[in-house]
Amino acid sequence: MNNYRTIYEAVGGGDGIRRIVEAFYPKVQKHPLLAPLFPDDIMPVMEKQYMFLSQFFGGPSLYSDQYGHPMMRGRHMPFQITVERAEAWLDCMREALAETELPQELQRIVLERLSAPAHHFVNTKESNEQET
Ligand code: HEM
Repeated sequence: MNNYRTIYEAVGGGDGIRRIVEAFYPKVQKHPLLAPLFPDDIMPVMEKQYMFLSQFFGGPSLYSDQYGHPMMRGRHMPFQITVERAEAWLDCMREALAETELPQELQRIVLERLSAPAHHFVNTKESNEQET
């Protein structure tokens, strides 16, 4: 990170974000807790995530330019997001980052920055804890 102004720059700009996203979604599609939530045609989701993460990490505001205010928690409300699913999402991201060969410290920072929103998007209790 030292010589970079943003995480976006540190991971290698748009190309770096794309590599992360392309490593991430195949893992999501294989994960038993996550796969059922996503459409078979994952390309549009990948493109939106590329746009969103670019701006989230300090790059150009690609997502907002096209879709307006992110309101990401709200956009996730149609899906049942449990703590388990948030952890699964972060596990897939951890594995994807490991494949990119970015420095360990940078991988840690990226994951930590995503951990807060992932937990913030939780909107459903675990099925075995649901109130009657
Ligand atoms: C906590 C676990 C998470 C789950 C289970 C989850 C699941 C989903 C699902 C099912 C979609 C809709 C896919 C579709 O278009 O059909 C989606 C969209 C999206 N997610 Fe997540 N997500 C999670 C966390 C995150 C995090 C942490 C971020 C970024 C900080 C993120 C960013 C996005 C973006 C940018 C979209 C596209 C929104 C749009 O439609 O414009 N998600 N997510």
